[in-house]
Amino acid sequence: MGTLPTDRLIVLDHPLVQHKLALLRDADTTTKDFRHLMGELAAFLCYEATRDLELEEYRVRTPLEETAARRVSGKKLGVVAVLRAGLGMLDAVLDLIPVARVGFVGVYRNEETLQPVEYYCKLPSDLAERDVLVLDPMLATGGSSSAALQLCKDRGGVRISLLCMVAAPAGIERVARDHPDVAVYTAAIDRELNDVGYILPGLGDAGDRLFGTR
Ligand code: PRP
Ligand code: URA
Repeated sequence: MGTLPTDRLIVLDHPLVQHKLALLRDADTTTKDFRHLMGELAAFLCYEATRDLELEEYRVRTPLEETAARRVSGKKLGVVAVLRAGLGMLDAVLDLIPVARVGFVGVYRNEETLQPVEYYCKLPSDLAERDVLVLDPMLATGGSSSAALQLCKDRGGVRISLLCMVAAPAGIERVARDHPDVAVYTAAIDRELNDVGYILPGLGDAGDRLFGTR
């Protein structure tokens, strides 16, 4: 059984992350609050996943004097939302990185086989030059995320991170096996999958809870 080395599996144990994750899990949380919480958690995940961005020195003039300052050194970033539920993370990530180029991968799970079915792919053409953040809140069997990561690689992506709310051991193992070079950032590692592939304890169907569908 493959497991991700610890430097490729980053679990955010910050108290605010755990507090908001608990609210996200709660079946009584409204659609409106669920959407808001997923955005807040996505921002925390993005913050952690961009921790190693390079900085360069430059000078700025404050209202009082000139001073040394630092800025992100022109590193190009790409963000790829896995439809549908990755949309719930996208705005918050773009608020932090407004210059990122955005791609979309449409993939859903066949409810019986649990195999990913790809139906859409639109990715930035220069993915090879970018650090790529793939957004998919649920890492269950890992089939959907693994397929999205492969599509990014097929388009040249080489430095890729996966950001999710909740990861199941099976999904972590799948990504470790298929994409050992990819770092996974998550707010939680949950216990297991149930017999229809839902994460336990999980938070239910992320897409349905985000968009009020059933
Ligand atoms: C959900 C979720 C992930 C996938 C995870 O998508 O958003 O993409 O399931 O499951 P897996 O790890 O077993 O592949 P879903 O198939 O429900 O599609 P939707 O987001 O369009 O509703
Ligand atoms: N997709 C979801 O939205 N939730 C799960 O628990 C598993 C897959």
